This record gives sequence, C-alpha cells and structure tokens, in this order.
Amino acid sequence: MTVAGIEVKNLNFFWPNGEQVIKSCSLQVPKGEFWMLLGTNGSGKSTLLRLIAGLLAPQSGEIGVLPPIGFVFQNPDHQLVMPTVGADVAFGLVSEKLAPAQVKARVEEALGAVNLLSLQRRPIYALSGGQKQRVAIAGAIARHCEVLLLDEPTALLDPDSQLDLVASVRRLVKSRGITALWVTHRLDELNYCDGAFLLEKGILVDTGDAERLKQRLMTVENEVV
Ligand SMILES: Nc1ncnc2c1ncn2[C@@H]1O[C@H](COP(=O)(O)OP(=O)(O)OP(=O)(O)O)[C@@H](O)[C@H]1O
Ligand SMILES: [Mg+2]
Repeated sequence: MTVAGIEVKNLNFFWPNGEQVIKSCSLQVPKGEFWMLLGTNGSGKSTLLRLIAGLLAPQSGEIGVLPPIGFVFQNPDHQLVMPTVGADVAFGLVSEKLAPAQVKARVEEALGAVNLLSLQRRPIYALSGGQKQRVAIAGAIARHCEVLLLDEPTALLDPDSQLDLVASVRRLVKSRGITALWVTHRLDELNYCDGAFLLEKGILVDTGDAERLKQRLMTVENEVV
C-alpha cells in the first residue's frame, strides 16, 4: 500500500457569500511523488491548495498532510520579506530556535539545493523572477518540509525559466522524498509530473496519468477555439 503525503476526503468549502467553490473533493498524493492540479481560471485550484495548507478552514471533510508544509505563492514578491537571499531563507527558521551554526548550515544546504548558494548575499530586488521563486523554495527546503505546495509558481516566468523551475522542483522532490502538489494551467509542465488532478467548477473530474489529462485538456481547448 502506498503512504499518502497528502490526503483529502470529501472536502467542502463555501465562501461567506454562500458560493460553494470546493465540492466533495477527495484526492491522494503518494509520499515522494510530484503531482499537479489543473483547471481553468476560477475552478478553485488556489482555494483547494490553501485548504490543504491550513490557510483556510473547510466547512466539512478531512485533510491529512505530513508536516512541515512549505507553500510557494504565484508572486514571490508577496512571500519574500527580508532584504537578502540568505536572510530570507534564515527568517523562515526563526520559530525553530536553532543555534546560529545550525541556521547557517540549513540555509547553505537549502540554497545549494536550488543552485543559489553563490547568491546568498544578493539583495532580493536584484534577482530575476525565477531566482525569487527558487529562494521561496529554498525557504521550504531549509525548514525540512515533507510536503511542498506550489500555486502557479511559473505564472510570472518566461518559458525557459518556467521549464527550468519545474525540472528542478522535480529533481528536489525525487532526491529528498518530498511530496509536492503544483498548480498550473500550462500543459507543457505536465511532462514533469507523476500524475495530475483536473478540477472543474470545484469538482475533481479526473485523476491520474498526466499524458491522458493533457490530451483531454487539449481537446477541450480546441473546442473552445
Ligand atoms: N476571498 C474570496 N472571497 C470570495 N470569493 C472568492 C475569494 N477568493 C476567490 N473567490 C472565488 O472562488 C472561486 C475559485 O477561486 P480560486 O482562486 O480558487 O480559483 P483558481 O482556480 O485558483 O483560479 P485562477 O486560475 O484564476 O488562479 C472563484 O469564483 C473566485 O472568484
Ligand atoms: Mg489560483
């Protein structure tokens, strides 16, 4: 039997205005796998990811996630709070009350994992979008996250950095046994995942093989055009 890194059962979520955006959703991401969550604008992807992260509370249903959880937002400018790369990654460790040498080791190890060690002292403002997303991911790696949730982390990137980022997250997930769920609507990213979920108007309508879901979405897109 596979062990789930993320498990959601019969989840329902309503906004205060009564709009139900997540409808009886159930899903499982096996431990150590890299899955994607797809769906059109407004289908509920970000809401579902925030529910899994515990940033929103569902009205009913169950959520099981292996802690600690790392969350990467679409816009890294909403996430990075310190002036330099190294300080930002270290900031995420404050609550762990580690000795300074341990913080240094964790920060260096995490920046090495995302290929940013040489930029440790660089100001955040001097980074590209892709580099900023790597800093956000290094923050999660430094905290030794078991589960990594990423909400359209490539939305603001150019196509080259987009595929670089998805490939490096796949490598990290596979080398460290992290469980990851990555929200996207870019079909070329699907080539990197172990499986995918398709969300339509708050309902999970398909689950499984990425290639099959890609074909299904391409057909839908052609019909819309
Ligand atoms: N804070 C909020 N209060 C009320 N309704 C909201 C709020 N945030 C989002 N919604 C609504 O919830 C629904 C799902 O939004 P959500 O952001 O989860 O979709 P999404 O699939 O992530 O879309 P996108 O691809 O645009 O990021 C939409 O109808 C949206 O208008
Ligand atoms: Mg969204």
